[in-house]
Amino acid sequence: MKFQNILSETDNGITTITINRPSKLNALNRETIQELHDAFEIAENSPKTKVIILTGSGEKAFVAGADISEFADFSIEEGSKLAAKGQELLFDFVANLSKPVIAAVNGFALGGGLELAMAAHFRIASDNAKMGLPEVSLGVIPGYGGTQRLPQLVGKGRAMEMIMTAGMIDANQALQYGLVNHVTTPEELLDFAEKLAGKIMRNSSVAIASAIRAINANFEDGENGFQVEIEKFGNCFGTEDFKEGTQAFLQKRKAEFPGD
Ligand code: COA
Repeated sequence: MKFQNILSETDNGITTITINRPSKLNALNRETIQELHDAFEIAENSPKTKVIILTGSGEKAFVAGADISEFADFSIEEGSKLAAKGQELLFDFVANLSKPVIAAVNGFALGGGLELAMAAHFRIASDNAKMGLPEVSLGVIPGYGGTQRLPQLVGKGRAMEMIMTAGMIDANQALQYGLVNHVTTPEELLDFAEKLAGKIMRNSSVAIASAIRAINANFEDGENGFQVEIEKFGNCFGTEDFKEGTQAFLQKRKAEFPGD
């Protein structure tokens, strides 16, 4: 599929999706959100993709937010629709993918940009990254899941402060907050993400998909995460990957997971 606003490349099991509007600091306009949805859907369904890395093009930004020029004159109804559609099409979609998504935050991750990074399964950042949810400085609040995912990741008090002050934190503060898992130099960021992807790919993709589902269940309304864990744990016993993983351990060899 040909994209206008993003790049998507698959190599050795890793699909790297790059938001590619550097002149607008990779701001998320309507087309970019749709293209990201399409690229993630293709990766989710492709047997060639085991792990997805999401990053931004250029040296300055991961994503500097939702495209402000698109919603500046919206009505109440249009504003609600914007948030609902975006959450469904991209942010919840990414969070619920069965394949691991690593956000490699390479610069500004603001507003919708930080919300997109937070929808990924985990985040790493380069030491020049700056993160924040500045929406209240525009007279609006985060609408792509930010008021929910930020407190889940950093705790309620820190999220309240970040959202109320509309301030930015740097990569080291984000590391200290647990918002990102690792900080690298800008040059090392993608290599480091690929190294992590390599470690993930040695394991059972079926088990990983179940783990993502069980972990996410903890954050879903009306779901009992412990119950989901029990079901998913039990289901693993019926997979070829489980047979291979346990046999390989007992035979003191490296597992070659069939992925089903
Ligand atoms: N929506 C639309 N366009 C955006 C954008 C956004 N969220 N963020 C940046 N851009 C555009 C700028 O309008 C500018 O376009 P132009 O050259 O056509 O005027 C271009 O990207 C470069 O941005 P600029 O502001 O000139 O870069 P800077 O280095 O001076 O500042 C930021 C960088 C990130 C501090 C600043 O761009 C900013 O505050 N962006 C908005 C962040 C935000 O509030 N996001 C939440 C949205 S809900």
